[in-house]
Amino acid sequence: MQFSRADFGNEFHWGVSTAAYQVEGAHLADGKGLSIWDNFVQKPGKIYQQQHANTACDFYNRYKEDTLLIKELNIPNHRFSISWSRIIPEGTGRVSRKGIDFYNRLIDYTLACGVEPWITLYHWDLPQALQDEGGWTNRRVVEWFLNYVSICIQNFGDRVKHWIILNEPMVFTGAGYFLGVHAPGKKGLRNFLAAVHHAALCQAEGGRLIRQLLPGATIGTTISCSHIEPYRKIDKDVLAANKVDTLLNRLFIEPLLGMGYPVNDLPVLKRIDNFMKPGDDERLAFDMDFIGIQNYTRELVRHSYLTPFVQAKIIQANKRKVKATVMNWEVFPEAIYEVLKKYSAYPNIPKLIITENGAAFPDEVVDGNIADGERVQYLNDHIKQVLRAKNEGVNVGGYFVWTLLDNFEWAEGYYPTFGLVHVNHNTQERILKDSGLWYQAFLRRGHTLK
Ligand code: BGC
Repeated sequence: MQFSRADFGNEFHWGVSTAAYQVEGAHLADGKGLSIWDNFVQKPGKIYQQQHANTACDFYNRYKEDTLLIKELNIPNHRFSISWSRIIPEGTGRVSRKGIDFYNRLIDYTLACGVEPWITLYHWDLPQALQDEGGWTNRRVVEWFLNYVSICIQNFGDRVKHWIILNEPMVFTGAGYFLGVHAPGKKGLRNFLAAVHHAALCQAEGGRLIRQLLPGATIGTTISCSHIEPYRKIDKDVLAANKVDTLLNRLFIEPLLGMGYPVNDLPVLKRIDNFMKPGDDERLAFDMDFIGIQNYTRELVRHSYLTPFVQAKIIQANKRKVKATVMNWEVFPEAIYEVLKKYSAYPNIPKLIITENGAAFPDEVVDGNIADGERVQYLNDHIKQVLRAKNEGVNVGGYFVWTLLDNFEWAEGYYPTFGLVHVNHNTQERILKDSGLWYQAFLRRGHTLK
């Protein structure tokens, strides 16, 4: 099947996504407060080779060069996040003029390059001062978050039309407050369920506040979605897969759509009741303009007595001997089609936008070039699956590649590289990869792919 950009229509949003902590660096510049990630990277044994993002891609100082690259690649939309502690160093209270000025410069330059900014309000870097008060486990986070949102809207709402509330709440609550492998490194069911409920409240209340302050804005939030299948076609594995699907894919979308938490398929979620206050059921719902779908792979799940709460475990790609990325995520393009179909089947679902999709493969610089054919193939095959879903009537309105630059990949440090652009972290030199050139050509109208 041949396809081109034109097959998606003129209204389709093509873009690239980045996140503040992963690229900005300048972690103490101009009065920025510390975030939970600035703190977490200092703890021994948490990050691959004890790496950190104090400098990262130095995007704070190189945003012009990098925005020019986006323009050169014909990418019309850049989704980036705001570092909460850069503009409100203690998370609440005093606002930093210099922090606001940085995002003003970035937004203005982005627009001047003809690129549309899409702002993610929260991509995992909570101010450490708020974590000292319990962070996402403290219900006051809703008040802190709404104050932060209103400051962003007051300062940037005159120029930014597209707003994304949270990046993948299941990942930052699960990895950060249950497993302890991401910042702030907390563990346990109680921490997790409290964080889930407060994040779900922020997701809806944040949307409501923006709609009130900026009626013309388009408002969305993102969900991490993996296509889930049972490992074997036996009842025990089917049940296990259903539980994992409930946890990973349904936990945040269903309360937002007014359906409440999916407690019937995962009874442990009933314990969220401990954190509910009267009126919360209604507060959890909000009619977003779009839902950001972030998909990388599928997961195969089998029954496991030993795993608490879900009695299920994921069989990793290397155990299954299938083609996988550096993250050990199976390369399975149909997954993006499956999750689009799954989400579009909800009643009252608004437009879907792929706000992240991409892959880490080993890149090698040879004579100043990076021939990353596997990434080109991955993107090509996933975009084709998005078109397949669209042609079957799924209301999908955009696709953003993760990501522009090789950046700080959280607990994995710098070894998994997802960028369309290679970054030498010693010199900060940028080199366009073949995948960047490929995306550039695809976005040039009239260019056809197979
Ligand atoms: C996150 C990104 C991350 C990417 C690849 C998503 O979960 O939003 O910050 O770098 O996946 O792991």
